[in-house]
Amino acid sequence: MSDRETSILVTGGAGFLGAHVIRALLQTPAFDGASIVVLDDLSGGFRENVPDDPRVTLVVGSITDVALVEQLFAEYRFRHVYHLAAYAAEGLSHFIRRFNYTNNLLGSVTLINAAVRYQSECFVFTSSLAVYGSAPVPMSEDTPPQPEDPYGIAKYAVECDLRAAHEIFGLDSVVFRPHNAYGEYQNIGDPYRNVVGIFMNRLMQSLPMPIFGDGNQQRAFTYVGDIAPIIARAPLVDKARNQVFNLGSNRPWTVKELAQEVAAAMGVPAVVEHLQPRREAVAAYASHDRCRQVFGEQTETQLAEGLARMAAWVRSVGSRSTTPFTHIEVQEQLPPAWQQWL
Ligand SMILES: NC(=O)c1ccc[n+]([C@@H]2O[C@H](COP(=O)([O-])OP(=O)(O)OC[C@H]3O[C@@H](n4cnc5c(N)ncnc54)[C@H](O)[C@@H]3O)[C@@H](O)[C@H]2O)c1
Repeated sequence: MSDRETSILVTGGAGFLGAHVIRALLQTPAFDGASIVVLDDLSGGFRENVPDDPRVTLVVGSITDVALVEQLFAEYRFRHVYHLAAYAAEGLSHFIRRFNYTNNLLGSVTLINAAVRYQSECFVFTSSLAVYGSAPVPMSEDTPPQPEDPYGIAKYAVECDLRAAHEIFGLDSVVFRPHNAYGEYQNIGDPYRNVVGIFMNRLMQSLPMPIFGDGNQQRAFTYVGDIAPIIARAPLVDKARNQVFNLGSNRPWTVKELAQEVAAAMGVPAVVEHLQPRREAVAAYASHDRCRQVFGEQTETQLAEGLARMAAWVRSVGSRSTTPFTHIEVQEQLPPAWQQWL
């Protein structure tokens, strides 16, 4: 059995953000000697994203597997839980609502139950800017959440559940609402999410970059290296306990502009293909004053530089075949661009 003092669970640690959070944990002096258990079902992540380090153990399995979660908590008695596992395809979540709530809500609740019963000290949760829906920009933590899709609804429900678990059981949590992260280790083969990854993957195959509607949607694209260390540090920052933080870059770009920047980073012409618009927030970006106040000044990698780093990584690993989601539950109003995979 591992020492309770030094056991950390990272769910979704074979995914993009998780891969960076684990690396940040391994470099955090306060976690020297900590053992890190990664629970990931590899539905959207990759074994090779998990660092090859004796302090890190990958368990392949699902957060929805109550018996497995129980077994892991009983064995390791995790002091901190970083819960990142989710299927984060926001736009697709309308069409896979049962799967979305099973995976992203019930899976989370399974972990919260275990964290309460085994008295974990801090539960770090990656929620999403999706909890704000189409609220006016810039969204601040004082903006009332009004999620508009099942993905955002599940995230907000977990936030509420964590608040209740703190009130009743004293479980401490830190909630982050990251947005539009990109960088090395991102799954570039998922056609429903990760616009930067989709653009790069398509360009490597000499295909146009698909843009829903006119491309005037505004998002603040965030280099993962700027946010992963903050997530890793969360349990060590007393003032962060039981708080919610927007997390990401400040400067919004349009998707049209992003396409130009991605093509430049890849060193190819910016060929785009406009698809029918889909239902989505036209502008979604946030203020990060609260995060700065509590975690201190943050680095903000310029878009061109972050994209250049990701492009170098993408070229080194090559393009990925597209892996469509196979269990669409509702086909009505599925964007035509996604109907090809039914
Ligand atoms: N990347 C972003 O811009 C962003 C923005 C807001 C919120 N988030 C949140 O951050 C977290 C990580 O996102 P990401 O971009 O790294 O996505 P990702 O898909 O790369 O990582 C998620 C990981 O969770 C795993 N997973 C999914 N369902 C699982 C299950 N039932 N059991 C075990 N493992 C499971 C996947 O295999 C994958 O490795 C997610 O919770 C996501 O909702 C990400």
